[in-house]
Amino acid sequence: MNIYQRTEEIDPIIEKLKSQNKTIGFVPTMGALHQGHLSLIRKAIGQNDVAVVSIFVNPTQFNNQEDLKKYPRTLERDLELLKTVSNEIIVYAPSVKAIYGDDVSSGSFQFDGLEFEMEGKFRQGHFDGVGTIIKRLFEILKPDNAYLGKKDFQQLRIIQKLVENYHIPVNIIGCDIYREKDGLAMSSRNERLNPEHRKAASFIYKTLKSAKKQFGTKSANKVTEWVINQFAKHELLELEYFIIADEDTLKTVKRKSKSMSYRAFIAVYADGIRLIDNLVLN
Ligand code: PAJ
Repeated sequence: MNIYQRTEEIDPIIEKLKSQNKTIGFVPTMGALHQGHLSLIRKAIGQNDVAVVSIFVNPTQFNNQEDLKKYPRTLERDLELLKTVSNEIIVYAPSVKAIYGDDVSSGSFQFDGLEFEMEGKFRQGHFDGVGTIIKRLFEILKPDNAYLGKKDFQQLRIIQKLVENYHIPVNIIGCDIYREKDGLAMSSRNERLNPEHRKAASFIYKTLKSAKKQFGTKSANKVTEWVINQFAKHELLELEYFIIADEDTLKTVKRKSKSMSYRAFIAVYADGIRLIDNLVLN
């Protein structure tokens, strides 16, 4: 396993790969790796000459300092897990100082309105932080392809918009959501759930699937109402939002049209832990 922490160390490695015309597949992560991350990494390995994985808990995308403090940092374990996939992976795990110097702040980005929907409403400044780190990582690692999970579908759309608006020559590849046996989308946060809430959390995907079924015959409003009711009755889970949106603009759907692609998005609190998920509807 090749692990680099300083930009000066990884720069010549990237330069060499570029001069040899090797394709670089990049998977950005914040560590605390799980099988969801590994599914992206396997795809990157399969489609490129080399795979680069970054592990960096990016402070500027956290709107909640407590959440940042509690974010699991498990580098040794992450490296062990990566070794189970391949010994050839290049790992970039910089310090906050290496990325931000003394100014830990984000730039301000324009994502054609995508940044004002859903997560943008509930996590102020989050996507400016994501835009800042991803742009920086793309500059350092110069990937041909970058692999992003649909688990964070809005983030995926925002990064697609980032490369489009800022003319960054990276191909963005969206990867399917990897789920636990009971349907819960894999997430580093799942490990923080106590057994009771962990069990209850499978209700999120069950409800999404049921919403999908109903969307075949009912309006977006009716389905949304139904989901809100289901969670109002639930004793352990608290719904933050449920939205049926157009995949392209991420705007809430008012009236169905055949030419649109719809996706249901959900954010739920389980014992103070925030879980998100989404499901394509057509
Ligand atoms: P992180 O939460 O570590 O996720 C890294 C990547 O793994 C993201 O693209 C995310 O969508 C994907 N991922 C997480 N769980 C997944 C699952 N169950 N199935 C499929 N893909 C999954 O997202 C971030 O980090 C950060 O915001 C980052 C992009 C690294 C910028 O700091």
